[in-house]
Formats: sequence, structure tokens, C-alpha cells
Amino acid sequence: MIIDVHAHYNDERYDQDLDQLMSTFRQENIYVINSATCPGDIDSAVVLANKYSNMFVTVGIHPEYALESNDEEIERIRCLFTGTKAEKILGIGETGLDYHYDYSDEQVAAQKVNFIKHLKLASDLSKPIVVHNRDAHLDTMNILKEHLDAKRGALIHCYSGSSESVPEYVSMNCCFSIGGVVTFKNAKKLVEAVKVMPRDRILIETDCPYLTPEPFRGTRNDSGKTVYTIRKIAELLDLSYEYVCDMTADNAKRFFEIII
Ligand code: NI
Repeated sequence: MIIDVHAHYNDERYDQDLDQLMSTFRQENIYVINSATCPGDIDSAVVLANKYSNMFVTVGIHPEYALESNDEEIERIRCLFTGTKAEKILGIGETGLDYHYDYSDEQVAAQKVNFIKHLKLASDLSKPIVVHNRDAHLDTMNILKEHLDAKRGALIHCYSGSSESVPEYVSMNCCFSIGGVVTFKNAKKLVEAVKVMPRDRILIETDCPYLTPEPFRGTRNDSGKTVYTIRKIAELLDLSYEYVCDMTADNAKRFFEIII
């Protein structure tokens, strides 16, 4: 079994063939956790997860859409967890901080407020949270230290930190999901980080349609291509491909409390 813990199948690039993809994944024993990113996407992401037996969902507002976040939206997310479609909703996210683009001070301030509100919500609901951190390592760490419910923990998706930071995240009960970037030629820092991660904290993701592993880099990504990411991790950790599939699927089941 493979569990792709972070994907974006709401993207219009899947409009034509999502039924076909999900049916192929079912045959290949591949499960997917789809992530909503903006207020306009949340309801349709929940509907999608309820349509496919091998799809789950996390709900939240990505830092890019932080200016669309407000108390009303946060309450709307909270209510989903007690709604009729709650069974497929595994956690909060993706949310976090993104300083990669030249955002205004107002937007950055909104990101921090949005992130903290999601952390409080995750803590209130005792649900895991999926964290996006791009070029915002220090602020992400500081906000997690202050607001993360360490009993439930966080998934640092598409981990891009150093190997030195791994123990600090582990001390806050964080897991790490690794995607196609690990197969890229310039992934030295990530490769070193993966080697020091506790094996029971490594999960697999795509972040599709983005970050397609080699040898398909640059094309549309999908959960079937986790095969290349898993192969690379198996090679780095000197484990078999099958072992890494089982290990990362078990880690995902434990972290998100998935019963399959
Ligand atoms: Ni993502």
C-alpha cells in the first residue's frame, strides 16, 4: 500500500481524467490525502473525498490565500468536522508561511494570523495539521513552538529544512512528508535531512500537480509517480522498496488516524 499524504486533485489539470486516475490507484492500492488550499476549494475538496473510496481530505487555507482568511472561514472549517461528510476529513491544512514570493507586509502579517488560527483550531479539535513552510523557517518554528498542540503534532509537508533542524521538529512531535524533490539532482540538503529523520516519522507525498519526481520532472504529477520517490528513499536508507511502502503507509495511518 502507498499513501500519498499531500495532493491537490482539485486542480483543473485533473478535470478530464480524475475518475480514471482514482480507479487506477484503487487497483494499485494507492490512497490519497487531498489538500484544500483556499476558501473556494474547501467544499469541493470534501465532496471529492466522499466520491472516491481511496481519497481523504484535509481542510485549510494556504498562506497564499491568507488575505481571504477570517473568523467566519475558520468557523466554517470547524463546522465541517461535525458535519455529515466529516468521516473523510482527517485534519487541518494546508496552512503555514510562504516568504518565497515578494508578498506585502500586510499579506505576511495575515499569513501569521491565519497560521495561528489554524493551529488553535487543530488543537481545539485534537486533529493533526499540515504545515507549508517555504523560505520561512525561523518564523514557522517560532509559531509552532508557541501554538502547536504537541500531543497531536504537525506534518511538515515537502520538508525543505536542514538535517540540523530535524531533531527540533521531532521534539515538537512533527512528521515529515517527502515528495519528488528528493529525486532532483540538486536535492543534497534534503537527502541529508532524510538520512537523519526517525524512520517512523517519514511519510510520502506528491504535492501534485507540482514537484514531479525524476525522470518526469516538469510534467503533471500524480500519486502513481510516488513510485520514483519511494525508490529514491529506499536507496538512501538502504531499505527495500516494499519496506518503504509499508513503513510510510503505517506512519501515515498512525499520524492521521486512518483506518483502512
Ligand atoms: Ni501543497
